[in-house]
Amino acid sequence: MAPSSQDLLAWYDRHKRTLPWRGVGGRPDPYRVWLSEVMLQQTTVATVGPRYARFLARFPDVHALARAEWEEVAEEWAGLGYYARARNLHAGAKALAARNAFPGTVEALRAIPGIGAYTAAAIAAIAFDVPVVPTDGNVERVAARIHAEAAPLPGAKRTLDALAQRWMEQDAARARPGDFAQALFDLGATICTPRRPACTLCPWREPCEARRQGIQETLPRKAPKKERPTRHGVHFLVEDARGRWLVRRRPETGLLGGMLEIPGTPWREEGWTRQDALAHAPIEGLRWSTVPGEAEHSFTHFELRMTLLRATHAGAAPEGYAWMEPDAARAAMPTAMKRLAALLEGRPTPS
Ligand code: ADE
Repeated sequence: MAPSSQDLLAWYDRHKRTLPWRGVGGRPDPYRVWLSEVMLQQTTVATVGPRYARFLARFPDVHALARAEWEEVAEEWAGLGYYARARNLHAGAKALAARNAFPGTVEALRAIPGIGAYTAAAIAAIAFDVPVVPTDGNVERVAARIHAEAAPLPGAKRTLDALAQRWMEQDAARARPGDFAQALFDLGATICTPRRPACTLCPWREPCEARRQGIQETLPRKAPKKERPTRHGVHFLVEDARGRWLVRRRPETGLLGGMLEIPGTPWREEGWTRQDALAHAPIEGLRWSTVPGEAEHSFTHFELRMTLLRATHAGAAPEGYAWMEPDAARAAMPTAMKRLAALLEGRPTPS
């Protein structure tokens, strides 16, 4: 039995979550939908709520975001992680500001720099009622269970997406694509949860093949993860006579692209000797003391461990570096660097 889109929408009408980006009546604003989707890709609904409102207060529309300097956007994004997403948002806003309307098809949305397949589908469905299912992790889980698809993720992504798109073929879903997409998100988040799904409350319990077989908690299967390697870095905090910090900006592309940092060695799997590390110091010949402790930060593909050396320097900032007040520097830095700076709250010992 095919799951009924009508049944899911009837459930959504009674149980949908009240969320800050869900307007009351009227067509949702595509900019707001876009922002909420980008934020939700990396962060929980509970965290996104207040940050979403704050971001909109500062950048109320595409034009405001397009006019902003990257530093302002990065500062507003601090703590939300995955800065590449904020960069893409900013780049996309610049491209959109040059047009007079927000594009309303999946293809046109995908052509905007930084808008990927999922986000294009989500904006098209939610803001423009295009009949397409934005397949995120929630939707993949629902699809895997309803159709008892045992192939493991990530390999099964295409299959699960194709299964989910079939639900949109029914008239009830085609009449309300935005609601249907969000009904799937809510079903995945509140009923068809990763662990202990609440099948007795599910509007799709009858057609659910995994439930019939009693294997719902084992789906979706996941291919075994590779272990995350650890990388090591040594960073150099140089302070001037006024207590300002010597900072630099990371290269535009790559991890934490364009973000502010306390300068350091590259991050590599092999540990650093003090002597090897000092070859990467921003200024030669300073008297370095070791700040006790080690800061840790998890990235998607590796664990980072950083140590900090500290010295003072009275002269001008070298080419490519700048002096900055510690409070301002901390506010603008990504979480990894905030953790590193937090080592200063212990008592440094000379070494
Ligand atoms: N997860 C991703 N997008 C969402 C949305 N629009 N509403 C609720 N949860 C979501």
